[in-house]
Amino acid sequence: MSADEAKLTGPDLAAGVDVGDVTDGALLAGHAHGMRVLLARRGTDVFAIGATCTHYGGPLAEGLLVDDTVRCPWHHACFSLRTGEALHAPALNPVPCFAVEQRDGKLFVAGERPASRPAAPDSAPDSVVIVGAGAAGNVAAETLRREGYAGRVTLVGAEESVPYDRPNLSKDYLAGSAPEAWIPLRSPEYYAEKGIELVLGVAVDRVDPAARQVTLANGTTLGYGALLLATGADPVRLTMRGSDLPHVHYLRTLADSRAVIAKCAQAKRAVVVGASFIGLEVAGSLRARGIEVTVVAPETVPLGRVLGDAIGGAIRKLHEEHGVVFRLGTKLVGIDAAEVTLADGEKLAADLVVLGIGVRPVTALAAASGLAIDRGVVVDEYLRTSAVHVFAAGDIARWPYARTGERIRVEHWVVAERQGHVAALNILGRRKAFDAVPFFWSVHYDVTISYVGHADQWDRIDVSGDVSARDCAVAFRRGEATLAIATIGRDRASLEAETAMERGDEAALREIVP
Ligand SMILES: Cc1cc2nc3c(=O)[nH]c(=O)nc-3n(C[C@H](O)[C@H](O)[C@H](O)COP(=O)(O)OP(=O)(O)OC[C@H]3O[C@@H](n4cnc5c(N)ncnc54)[C@H](O)[C@@H]3O)c2cc1C
Ligand code: FES
Repeated sequence: MSADEAKLTGPDLAAGVDVGDVTDGALLAGHAHGMRVLLARRGTDVFAIGATCTHYGGPLAEGLLVDDTVRCPWHHACFSLRTGEALHAPALNPVPCFAVEQRDGKLFVAGERPASRPAAPDSAPDSVVIVGAGAAGNVAAETLRREGYAGRVTLVGAEESVPYDRPNLSKDYLAGSAPEAWIPLRSPEYYAEKGIELVLGVAVDRVDPAARQVTLANGTTLGYGALLLATGADPVRLTMRGSDLPHVHYLRTLADSRAVIAKCAQAKRAVVVGASFIGLEVAGSLRARGIEVTVVAPETVPLGRVLGDAIGGAIRKLHEEHGVVFRLGTKLVGIDAAEVTLADGEKLAADLVVLGIGVRPVTALAAASGLAIDRGVVVDEYLRTSAVHVFAAGDIARWPYARTGERIRVEHWVVAERQGHVAALNILGRRKAFDAVPFFWSVHYDVTISYVGHADQWDRIDVSGDVSARDCAVAFRRGEATLAIATIGRDRASLEAETAMERGDEAALREIVP
């Protein structure tokens, strides 16, 4: 018996369950054919799909049924009940989909259904070049092929690696609990099989929208029918005494994370500069490696600007329980080989310094190409830039957010992937507006913060539950509008908030957080 089979629980759905056991709108988890399977009814239709999310293995049975889809409770991937297809990132692969037979008052999960093949698009450019082999670029390339596009697809990336799981760089991978084999999103063979040309380790230096051509740093030119810019963000660099010393690191790329891990073998005391998501995740991962950690940041409450004082205070306490020391309301003024100096003159021993003081969107290429820039690359709801046939997605894109009418830019993994998907659809002429509600998550030890919506500024925070017990939903409100909801330990509420925001259902949001 395989390890997976040993974990199979619930009814054997291949052997049949009573029709009445599967009620409309409910999910029934069991197993069939050696796999975990989920049964769901929508009206008279009954569906059976694999019950394990293809992102990180989340339990879909604890997710939310929305129309004929199910959403994963962990990071909000969405699967079609009809086909098993992964409709929304962060899942890239479908779950298996099974035929369901009904006889003698029982439902039986029969064999696996073959995946359906999309028809080739009617109108499509002869070739697509994607600049940036990260979250958005990768999903765009995959989507083009999944939608039946047969033209040339070239994915150009400045990094040496195939697209990889960037959020993991500060979490399990850095903590030593995820092997490097988990980090690539796909193998090189995957891209070869899909006919996606990978050009890695070389940056695009120039875009000429009039000639529909890009020039790479090695002098190669590539013509395009459509171009997607997905160049991501770069860490803000610190320039002060000692900031170029070899024990001073940033964390954006796989190479950065590998370099920090290499230093961890010798390091005993680290200073993490910045109490942002990345800074705090790094602090937690270094603690998991037994390194003493002090976090230095100018703000008085970690994450307070994004999540407010209540959650920020609880996250600070969580880190302190794990031995992290904070020096807040101050900043670094100098770095030496074995210590750092703070603004008040205090010196902290440090043989490793990690700087996590924010990122800036990489817009220089777009700006030099004459595209409209406004604290990011300006795009419309179809993710089109100001130049024809040029799209932008991910951390660089500032798009019109339908819920507030404001143009926003966010730095979230799932948003970048979903924008890559929508940009690819629009390259194929589908006219699909990007209307997803932003979602991100952040992990601190065994505590995950989930956040849906977008709130740059709010005038009120309402709390449901107990923040200090890490069981809460917190609403960020401006006037009568709920702009965002952050949850800890309430995955279902986070999914419900996401769907309520999609529907513009303020009353439902008031039920989640009165
Ligand atoms: C350590 C870390 C942890 C994170 N954790 C989370 C998390 O928990 N949850 C969450 O929601 N978000 C998280 N994020 C943010 C998330 O990873 C980003 O929002 C996301 O990767 C953005 O995707 P993107 O495609 O826009 O850019 P990226 O994924 O950054 O990819 C852009 C790529 O373009 C390349 N590039 C840039 N310029 C050029 C050029 N001229 N030519 C060719 N290639 C170029 C870059 O080298 C890069 O590889 C994290 C980020 C980091 C760094
Ligand atoms: S495990 Fe399902 S979305 Fe991440």
